[in-house]
Amino acid sequence: MTIPPPIAMLAELTHRCPLSCPYCSNPVQLQGKAAELDTATWADVFRQAADLGVLQLHISGGEPASRPDLVDLTAAAHDAGLYTNLITSGIGLTPKRLDALESVGLDHIQLSMQGTTAGLADWVGGYKGGFTRKMAIAQEIKARGIPLTLNAVMHRHNLDDLDATIDLAVELGARRLEVACVQFHGWAVRNRDMLLPTFEQTEATKRTVAAATKRLRGILAFDFVPPDYYSDYPKACMGGWGSAGLNVTPDGTVLPCHAAESIPHLTFQSVRDVPLADIWFKGDAFNAYRGTDWLPEPCQSCERRDIDFGGCRCQAMMLAGDASVTDPVCTRSPDHGLVLKVLEDAGVARKDGEFTYRAYAGKQG
Ligand code: SF4
Ligand code: FES
Repeated sequence: MTIPPPIAMLAELTHRCPLSCPYCSNPVQLQGKAAELDTATWADVFRQAADLGVLQLHISGGEPASRPDLVDLTAAAHDAGLYTNLITSGIGLTPKRLDALESVGLDHIQLSMQGTTAGLADWVGGYKGGFTRKMAIAQEIKARGIPLTLNAVMHRHNLDDLDATIDLAVELGARRLEVACVQFHGWAVRNRDMLLPTFEQTEATKRTVAAATKRLRGILAFDFVPPDYYSDYPKACMGGWGSAGLNVTPDGTVLPCHAAESIPHLTFQSVRDVPLADIWFKGDAFNAYRGTDWLPEPCQSCERRDIDFGGCRCQAMMLAGDASVTDPVCTRSPDHGLVLKVLEDAGVARKDGEFTYRAYAGKQG
């Protein structure tokens, strides 16, 4: 099998973040500041990524603006020839920092949205005053004309806010709106009963997105990630394992996807020890579920085999306790009853309780 080079790399510069969203995609065991790669090592990783064939670099975290060297790192990525997308809550950015980022070649900003009112957004993000600061920096981004995507992570508590989210995206001059319903890994699993939308909300969301896509053609583009527990078939997670993208964690561990560390039998290599290209092409973790030869039944003989690659490995691990089985979201999976049970239990337990916000297990750093 010929292995193509990755197209995109997600660089989690740090797990530090002033917000503490209850669906954070960072692992439950957060890495502290002392573990983070230094500026020179990240710059080398960016050069290696460009040599490997990566085109797009998603500069992420935690909150990447928590790194004092964010501008230097963006400059290094730009100099390596990478398209740079900053994924941020906006907290920690200032007009001066935006000017500096623009001057070193930042190509795009993806700003996260927790809600369209201070009450909702600050509750979800677990950070009082965050919404006001975010809106102020959003206006600065707009004033500079930096290409902007709003990344709205949606769940039971803010899906009814979708119309207002769309209006806000237009008002802020965003070119794209990600309506990304929470995927259940890590922190989101801990908050699943609080975050799972209802079936009715899911159907209403599909209708709203379809209508807005038509209405706002040429003004605002949509990326829609539906809540897959209600889908008949799973998503093609990462576009297929080890086929298009890779993640580098703050300490330099290289992962096939952000939740891969939840699969206990896999071992992961670090850019501190092994060249990035060797990890991509030869690493055991990257080859574990590459292609379709490894697929079990019913996937192996399914006509959707090359469309969804059997779904998400981390979801199979989390729901069925085995990363090598068909994603239980699939209605053809023998484990699909596990998803139906989650939905049933959530329906019974659904209540307006409290979030378990993301937090460091011990002393940070
Ligand atoms: Fe996809 Fe496998 Fe389900 Fe077919 S059986 S739709 S390949 S997950
Ligand atoms: Fe790991 Fe889907 S999140 S394969």
